[in-house]
Amino acid sequence: MFDTVVQSAQLEYTPAVAQAAAPLYNKVKRVINELDWATFAPYILEINRLKKEKGAVILAHNYMTPEIFHCVADFAGDSLQLAQQAAKTDAKIIVQAGVHFMAETSKILSPEKTILIPDTKAGCSLASSITGADVRLLREKYPNVPIVTYVNTSADVKAESDICCTSSNALAIVESFDSDTVLMIPDQYLARNIARQTKKKILTWQGSCEVHERFTPEDIKKFRKAYPGAVILAHPECPPEVVAEADFAGSTKAMSDYVTDKQPQKVVMITECSMSDNVSVNNPNVEFVRPCNLCPHMKRITLKNILTCLQTMSHEVTVDPAIAVRARLAVDKMLAVKV
Ligand code: 13P
Ligand code: SF4
Repeated sequence: MFDTVVQSAQLEYTPAVAQAAAPLYNKVKRVINELDWATFAPYILEINRLKKEKGAVILAHNYMTPEIFHCVADFAGDSLQLAQQAAKTDAKIIVQAGVHFMAETSKILSPEKTILIPDTKAGCSLASSITGADVRLLREKYPNVPIVTYVNTSADVKAESDICCTSSNALAIVESFDSDTVLMIPDQYLARNIARQTKKKILTWQGSCEVHERFTPEDIKKFRKAYPGAVILAHPECPPEVVAEADFAGSTKAMSDYVTDKQPQKVVMITECSMSDNVSVNNPNVEFVRPCNLCPHMKRITLKNILTCLQTMSHEVTVDPAIAVRARLAVDKMLAVKV
């Protein structure tokens, strides 16, 4: 039914489209207003139809907007979960609803698959803070120090590293080495947050996430005063002074799980804006205070360019096979570490 409904409607919000999309709207109506839904619904139906026709899956990061996260994604999660899923899926085509390094990671893990990204400009301030040449220089300077590289980096950088990590597994990865000193690149704040939890000496790089570095300890104090009793959750890409003021710090998955498991009355998520919207959909009894910063890179991904991506099979993400093979060693080693 979806096929005929959408093709004949030509992406218009007809009564038939409204009816076909109603179960989805029922799920997200607390975070998407009716006016926006009228624009989104035809795209959602057409994307879901085309995805099936082409045998594609959509892997979406937790920072995607709710109409993507809840209505077209086949799998949604944090960076670690997306990498695990990319390694596992049988689909021949993966549409990465996320930023470029995530699509590259999928390609590294599944070189035989077609990996598409809806907007090639969806970058990341961490990924652009360091190059493979920088890592080679670090290796020369610290020849016996293992290099742990955040997945938020290019394939070239991963290829020069001993192992990758995400914010979900960073501590376990650092602890997996015998060495007393570990280089954690390129996020200086994630590195400093991990340094507070381990006896190892952590060296780092000057990179930072442009979304999380903007939060300050004063912000947190202000939220505590304005929203007494609210639980404050922060992402470990925030400066350590911010994390110290929060009640809990963890990856986007860890924050989402915290809310689902503990059902706090009121919560403040110190992270990207779509997190609260997405988590609130399945947690109707939790009140979300929504101070947040937008990631301009994540926000480049829209229903419109996901549809174009599936229609035109572009933009295909490729990684030089010689680099991919070396980068894969670092990603596979990460996936083998039990958290
Ligand atoms: P996680 O989803 O792994 O916590 O990472 C957050 C992030 O900034 C991804 O770009
Ligand atoms: Fe990069 Fe920060 Fe955006 Fe994540 S939120 S993609 S780390 S800039």
